[in-house]
Amino acid sequence: MAITQHKIGSGFDRHSTADDVLAGIDLTGKNVLITGGYSGLGLEATRALSRAGAHVVVPARRPATATQALYGIPRTEVHELDLADPDNIRVFSDRFLETGRPLDIVIGNAGVMAYPNTPIGPGWEPHFAINHLGHYALVNRLRPALAGARVVSVASSGHFLSDIRWDDPHLRHGYDHWLAYGQSKTANALFAVHLDALGAAEGVHAFAVHPGSILTPLQRRIPREQQIAQGWITPEGRPADGFKTPAQGAATAVWAATSPPLDQYGGAYCQDCDIAEPATTDDMLVGGVKPWAIDPGSASRLWALSGELTGLDRFS
Ligand SMILES: NC(=O)c1ccc[n+]([C@@H]2O[C@H](COP(=O)([O-])OP(=O)(O)OC[C@H]3O[C@@H](n4cnc5c(N)ncnc54)[C@H](OP(=O)(O)O)[C@@H]3O)[C@@H](O)[C@H]2O)c1
Repeated sequence: MAITQHKIGSGFDRHSTADDVLAGIDLTGKNVLITGGYSGLGLEATRALSRAGAHVVVPARRPATATQALYGIPRTEVHELDLADPDNIRVFSDRFLETGRPLDIVIGNAGVMAYPNTPIGPGWEPHFAINHLGHYALVNRLRPALAGARVVSVASSGHFLSDIRWDDPHLRHGYDHWLAYGQSKTANALFAVHLDALGAAEGVHAFAVHPGSILTPLQRRIPREQQIAQGWITPEGRPADGFKTPAQGAATAVWAATSPPLDQYGGAYCQDCDIAEPATTDDMLVGGVKPWAIDPGSASRLWALSGELTGLDRFS
């Protein structure tokens, strides 16, 4: 079924913060899991969700760093999880399921950009493996805890850079880290489309979001000169015009995780705390969604490919 991509007049916009979109929403007693919820946008989301009363599970590649970053934020817990390691995902998920706790919200937020081209596991391209396959495996393994849950996949306008490279998803015949990042973010969006279709029967709704452009540790592998040349920072090191603060950057994911009217727009790609319009330009700062990121046929094909690669499909 085609995904609806038009604004619904949420009342929020690109200036809204995660606290703004949660005003009046009581998450007491709700369990949230947010990957990478201890850095950049994830940390801001964790803070806001905790302030709204949620219990926030933060799986972390670096648990000690996460524990330090979350110090003083109530109702948070840290567990080890490396999305590049399928065994580690299995161990984390099994332990979580053993607790018998349901998850009301899952935000697949962790991600890498401009990562070194060091193949993962059986030769997987690292952006595709960490940003997409890791979250695919995690959500599939956590399925018994997900009845009625919202799943938010943190994508990016970076999806403008590449559709899925169907003939060469691991980019073995020509590596470029921007194509790799772009493909992984298209995959994040398509994942939400097909998860929503498969999960609807048990009340699982999924959405993809573009957070905006925000200076965070995500850019740490891009030399400063290149960031200036790309117009991300001024020569003085300040964020360029059009960039959001981390609290604004966390808002769309938190909105997609909690906004009641969104239930009827499953699979949608969101930005600026509303459903995104179709992209009318190639300017990633303007955003919008490209057709290849919401195509139901591609979403189903990617799900099948991801199932083959990970050996997991708990929803079909
Ligand atoms: N910032 C932006 O302008 C922007 C724009 C569009 C989309 N996004 C998306 O927003 C999301 C959050 O990014 P951010 O800007 O907040 O960056 P960030 O501060 O670097 O956060 C990314 C998180 O992902 C975690 N991570 C990386 N590799 C992992 C792995 N193998 N296993 C588990 N966790 C891993 C990182 O953990 P460590 O710190 O331990 O490495 C970190 O906690 C990403 O998906 C990104 O693509 C960001």
